[in-house]
Amino acid sequence: MRPQILTLLLPIALVSCASGSGSTTGASNGPGSSAVVGGPNLPATSYDYVAYAVTNLPTQYSANAPGNVAGADNTPPANPITNAGATLGRVLFYDKRLSANDSVSCGSCHQQAHGFSDPHRLSLGFQGGNTTRHAMGLANAKFYARGHFFWDERASTLEEQVLQPIQNSVEMGMTLPQLETKLAGLTYYPPLFQAAFGSPVITQDRIARALAQFVRSLVSYQSKYDQAFKVAPGAPPNFAAVLTPQELQGLQLFGPANGVGRTLRCDQCHGTPAHIAANVENNGLDAVPVDLGAGGGRFKVPSLRNVALRAPFMHDGRFANLDAVIEHYNSGVQDSPNLSPRLRAGGTPAGAAQRLNLSTEEKDALVAFLNTLTDNPMQADPKFANPF
Ligand code: HEC
Ligand code: HEC
Repeated sequence: MRPQILTLLLPIALVSCASGSGSTTGASNGPGSSAVVGGPNLPATSYDYVAYAVTNLPTQYSANAPGNVAGADNTPPANPITNAGATLGRVLFYDKRLSANDSVSCGSCHQQAHGFSDPHRLSLGFQGGNTTRHAMGLANAKFYARGHFFWDERASTLEEQVLQPIQNSVEMGMTLPQLETKLAGLTYYPPLFQAAFGSPVITQDRIARALAQFVRSLVSYQSKYDQAFKVAPGAPPNFAAVLTPQELQGLQLFGPANGVGRTLRCDQCHGTPAHIAANVENNGLDAVPVDLGAGGGRFKVPSLRNVALRAPFMHDGRFANLDAVIEHYNSGVQDSPNLSPRLRAGGTPAGAAQRLNLSTEEKDALVAFLNTLTDNPMQADPKFANPF
């Protein structure tokens, strides 16, 4: 939000780069200070990215909880989250200097207030060009068991994914060697790399690992929905104690919950308490898909965590609000050879595209339920916010 300041500071940054200050290990700006002009403001004591994500895993995410997703964690053994690593990742995530002309950061397209997505249908890259798809929300990326990223899953790990926007000619327009040199010339980076990885050396591998650590730390566990798991930890969630009757009806429509009334089995794709899928799916957006996604119009099923903050919806942002999404599943599912059987009458490959004939009450209940997945503390948490 302060482009004029960044522009003024850039020449200074380039000068220090040219003077080869890539090893300013002893610089005063460590993770415990925020002294460098134009550098990030970081707390004296690092925020905690580890304990809440590992030791104090929310009950529904821990090993013994019903429907737990701990087994879905895609963290590689070689890159566990550390506080210093995620702190560096946060700085990189919000640093516009990761783009060729210092205009765009990861956080420009993945906005905290919007569930780490973008309210625009397509996002603007560093030269004002449009991305080809809608920016994805990032909550609970950690709990996607397949561990593949992007709408078409073309990145096979998160560590691989996070380097791609940097090199994308529309998004950030850098090469990785250019980025390594550029970051080494910014006085606040070598100490952050030192703290995270034990030496100030800046490599693309370390950049990838730190960014992935920060993204994996974006775990949502404080929504209204989550409160039901805290009524009696270890026991099945008590939704009736937490949700309104309308939200309860929506939960039951979404997937069998209290067994009372109709269910549409949205949870067959948006499953587990992370509301994320086990495979790519074709959810009937087009009879003849324009964008083939992972093949045959199949796309990654996004986690529905914070979905109400993430309009517009789907890979191309075609639906402006949740009502339009529900109407799609109600009356708009398009038949095609690749349409999932789960969206066909009878749930069988031979069935016609589903027509749910939902009442207004049922549609409103579904939207009310989706709103219970909004994690307001997460959108306000300073440890996930822009430090610049
Ligand atoms: C110019 C906008 C833009 C910028 C900048 C950007 N992204 Fe994205 N991001 C997107 C879009 C659009 C997609 C979906 C692209 C696709 O699937 O083809 C995406 C997808 C992702 C995903 C995949 C999520 C999933 O569930 O599969 C992750 C993770 C991600 N971005 C992280 C980052 C990080 C880290 C950075 C900074 C290094 C970054 N993004 C920079 C727009 C952006
Ligand atoms: C066959 C699997 C499947 C079923 C069943 C299913 N969905 Fe989806 N859903 C998807 C896929 C795949 C996407 C993303 C499609 C795309 O963007 O191309 C999606 C996207 C969404 C989105 C938009 C998310 C975003 O970030 O843009 C919402 C909301 C949603 N689904 C809700 C529901 C509801 C409610 C139901 C039940 C009525 C349901 N889904 C049933 C597969 C499914």
